[in-house]
Amino acid sequence: MSFSKLGRRLAWFGCVLIMNGNLADLKAEELVKDPVTGLIKAKNWELVRTHCMVCHSTKGFTQIRLDRKNWQKIIQTMQAQHGLWQLGEAEVKVLDYLEGNYGLPKEAYNPKIRRPL
Ligand code: HEC
Repeated sequence: MSFSKLGRRLAWFGCVLIMNGNLADLKAEELVKDPVTGLIKAKNWELVRTHCMVCHSTKGFTQIRLDRKNWQKIIQTMQAQHGLWQLGEAEVKVLDYLEGNYGLPKEAYNPKIRRPL
């Protein structure tokens, strides 16, 4: 094999490796959503489905981003005005889920630009 042929092969392998690396990154970041509810399938999502989807779809919360304190306020409002039951031990987990998946982004962002849903 001539030197230049080998070089081209190596370059090609390099490309394939880099592309595979990128694909792996994409997969790691891809959010898996439940096709029925639209909820991000992360830890405790079933709990949220159980407690939060009885009266309405997830539209109300998959489109807003709040910090933990304000998610707690939402839950309290649900309880005070809309008849949500006490969540008991599940409340911490529901809050973990909401804060973790529908919380405020850590990096600065421009609020005028809609973030991806
Ligand atoms: C017992 C019924 C019930 C349950 C259970 C319930 N909600 Fe609600 N929720 C409502 C009603 C009623 C509204 C008002 C709907 C409207 O204004 O159209 C509402 C509205 C909302 C809104 C919109 C708030 C706003 O100010 O517009 C959010 C967000 C929300 N709910 C989140 C949740 C979450 C999170 C849970 C689970 C912890 C939950 N809800 C459980 C009845 C419920």
